[in-house]
Amino acid sequence: MVQPEEQARLYRPRPELLPAAHVPSLADYRRLYRRSVEKPQEFWGDVAKEFYWKQQQQPWVPFLWYNFDATKGRIFIEWMKGAKTNVCYNLLDRNVGEKKLGDKVAFYWEGNEPGDSMKITYGELLRKVCQFANVLHNHGVKKGDRISIYLPMILELVIAMLACARIGAIHSVVFAGFSADSLCERILDCGCSLLITADAFYRGDKLVNLKQIADEALQKSKDKGFPLKKCIVVKHLGREEIAADEEIAADGACSQSPPLKRLCQDVQEKKTESSQRLHPKIPWDPHMDVWWQDLMSGASTECEPEWCDSEDELFILYTSGSTGKPKGVLHTVGGYMLYAATSFKYVFDYQPEDIYWCTADIGWITGHSYITYGPLANGATSVLFEGIPTYPDAGRMWSIIDKYKVTKFYTAPTAIRLLMKYGEELVKKHSRKSLKVLGTVGEPINPEAWLWYYRVVGEERCPIVDTFWQTETGGHMLTPLPAATPMKPGSATFPFFGVVPAIVNESGEELEGEAEGYLVFKQPWPGIMRTLYGNHQQFETTYFKKFPGYYVTGDGCRRDKDGYYWITGRIDDMLNVSGHLLSTAEVESALLGHAAVSEAAVVSHPHPLKGECLYCFVTLKDGHEFTKDLADELKKQVREKIGPIATPDYIQNAPSLPKTRSGKITRRILRKIAQNDRDLGDISTLVNPGIINQLFNNRCDTKL
Ligand code: PRX
Repeated sequence: MVQPEEQARLYRPRPELLPAAHVPSLADYRRLYRRSVEKPQEFWGDVAKEFYWKQQQQPWVPFLWYNFDATKGRIFIEWMKGAKTNVCYNLLDRNVGEKKLGDKVAFYWEGNEPGDSMKITYGELLRKVCQFANVLHNHGVKKGDRISIYLPMILELVIAMLACARIGAIHSVVFAGFSADSLCERILDCGCSLLITADAFYRGDKLVNLKQIADEALQKSKDKGFPLKKCIVVKHLGREEIAADEEIAADGACSQSPPLKRLCQDVQEKKTESSQRLHPKIPWDPHMDVWWQDLMSGASTECEPEWCDSEDELFILYTSGSTGKPKGVLHTVGGYMLYAATSFKYVFDYQPEDIYWCTADIGWITGHSYITYGPLANGATSVLFEGIPTYPDAGRMWSIIDKYKVTKFYTAPTAIRLLMKYGEELVKKHSRKSLKVLGTVGEPINPEAWLWYYRVVGEERCPIVDTFWQTETGGHMLTPLPAATPMKPGSATFPFFGVVPAIVNESGEELEGEAEGYLVFKQPWPGIMRTLYGNHQQFETTYFKKFPGYYVTGDGCRRDKDGYYWITGRIDDMLNVSGHLLSTAEVESALLGHAAVSEAAVVSHPHPLKGECLYCFVTLKDGHEFTKDLADELKKQVREKIGPIATPDYIQNAPSLPKTRSGKITRRILRKIAQNDRDLGDISTLVNPGIINQLFNNRCDTKL
């Protein structure tokens, strides 16, 4: 248990970081911060000068133009509108040409299987991106077209994103852990013209037959009247098979590369079971499907970038919405590029010799901003990891850190808590002496996990940047800077440049000093989303209506006497499972899709590793009986509708649900029942208080 004085203590940056740091002291941070919020045009104007603009209005007129107040008309945010650039050109061509980084490694790719690795330089990446951009052109893809990308953590994912950016197409990356239904929903919502996927991949020892799931999604989309014309498939597992077959054909010998060796052995020994495991059957429609590798081999390595307006769309990324339907968060070219690049540089105190590793999946915003766009904009070398922290054992993260001499490491509290469980010995078996800065993102980090990360992983040498932000914000909002900010375990500390946070009460009044309430932001920063794709009205209602003049995060927050911000968690109908946002409505609708369920209510429940998990109350239709088999079926239903991350931990039988007179389910009370907490507060507004005891009684055997 962390003692209060330990949590209140300030953990100061170590002096060794200071000499080279971009922001070496708190006073420097304050000076830069003041300029960034008082003179945003000047501050971001200087940042913009570090990028290439094909055509720039002279001077920038207007550099920033916006309305944040829904009572004064339409909400809009425009940064550098009228100026023309290309994100891919800035990330690759300039690094290769002007900055002479062509031979520098952009990514070390580390596969799921230890020993399976590759690297790609900036020069090679540029050539491959151009090739794929030409492939897209050859398939008729134009500026403004939407392209869905459903890929595991492989280099082709980055290549596909940047190829879209190069030709002005809008990418919509869908996390490869999502189900066919979720993929189909996202394809339909953005009306994409083409899907890019892979044959299959392993996550740990679990095979994911991605092509099969993609095919189901495409069939569903066709059934709904939206047939896609092409599906480009990366031969990922298949590339190992080809290599293995070729090698055997050549001399019957086995490769020294562990995954190939395993494949060769399996092929040679014809072990039915394991060769089944390694050679999944890939469904194939010759009219629709085409191999990535076949298209690339004939494509030119040069491709003129499309010069886009700073306010043209760059990508859509879906995030959970409280209505249950995912929201297509839209980011645009210029502002996002500036913000991802600048936050990466300062928050990780990026130095040219760094080896940076972010363990997030590119299917989430963290991977977009801090694997693809931010690091490449800075010419950084990153590790791209396909696997999971516990395969083949729970020392994998630390061994990768040693293998590549990682200096800056960015992960999630849920991963830290998971690895804590395996004890210190496994960490200490590895050197980790290359590490300089540690980061976390995705959910509040509990002080125990923070201190373990700080003491055991970083040996009290590495500052921890606890970065609070959202898909919608594009980049970090509240965060320490490694050499400048004294840290408090569990606090995201202070605002990043350009960010003006406030805490407001239910009536929208700003609270000063020590306070707790709704976290809002007062003026636009370059990375803020511009709209929800195809639904500007929902954008205005969700983020700007409750408190006119402010962007509303949906998070609760406390400011302490020293001005430190502490995120207290979501205060809307969202929950955060292992750092992934889910909406209760989305899970409820998946449960309601089952023939036996008449009503469902989902609440968040504390979980030692995941932070929060799903606790579901279901009311069955007449004639159905609540059994373990039914509970398992319901869990499967949710997994299939949304994806494994949404699998409920608890399903409880609820003969009926506590409701107010207006028929609203009181989730507050359900949360208490889930936690067996009988301190229910006021229940006088309930129309059916009698159900409460029954729900408490049902809870004992609920973990089925
Ligand atoms: O509740 C906050 C939590 O994650 C939400 C945003 O989720 P998403 O859009 O999926 O983006 C996650 C990665 C940026 C926030 O509204 N959250 C994120 N980072 C933190 C956090 N909560 C507390 N501390 C953090 N560092």
